Amino acid sequence: MNKYKILFVCLGNICRSPAAEAVMRSMVESRRLSDAVEVDSAGIIGYHEGEQADPRMRSAAFQRGYRLTSISRPVRPDDFHSFDLIVGMDNSNMQSLRRMAPPDAHARLCLLTDFCADSGHTEVPDPYYGGLSGFVLVLDILEEACGRLLATLQDEKSLPTR
Ligand code: 4NP
Repeated sequence: MNKYKILFVCLGNICRSPAAEAVMRSMVESRRLSDAVEVDSAGIIGYHEGEQADPRMRSAAFQRGYRLTSISRPVRPDDFHSFDLIVGMDNSNMQSLRRMAPPDAHARLCLLTDFCADSGHTEVPDPYYGGLSGFVLVLDILEEACGRLLATLQDEKSLPTR
């Protein structure tokens, strides 16, 4: 079976989207969906290309049991063909993604917080210029939204139910 491929996207690919990738991968593994789902992340800008995730994000995530292993890379034109779903963290990311998407894109675009019905968060706020609490908030939102996103994909039969 072809894997369902999800790409998480933020501005720099060193804070929010690498954390989203790790949170989602952990949920995929614990629900025994690793053979059905592939997860990656990328940035709108290539400024941090080749860098590990921000140490503040890695440390906040590590305290919840997540290991951030991804290396920053910018979104590539081919991503719109090779991924099934591209998930932005805020409205600015979505604007950029819509601008970059080729007319014959295969990937569906969505905003991660569309899956935050309970908490009402409308974006994953950029934590880069703030303090530790911003990184903790990012993880709270990611855990809620990634769980809901997985359940939605299972409901619509894009993923198996196990
Ligand atoms: P991210 O955070 O988009 O969550 O990775 C940022 C990282 C770097 C910058 C901005 C946001 N920057 O301006 O370099």
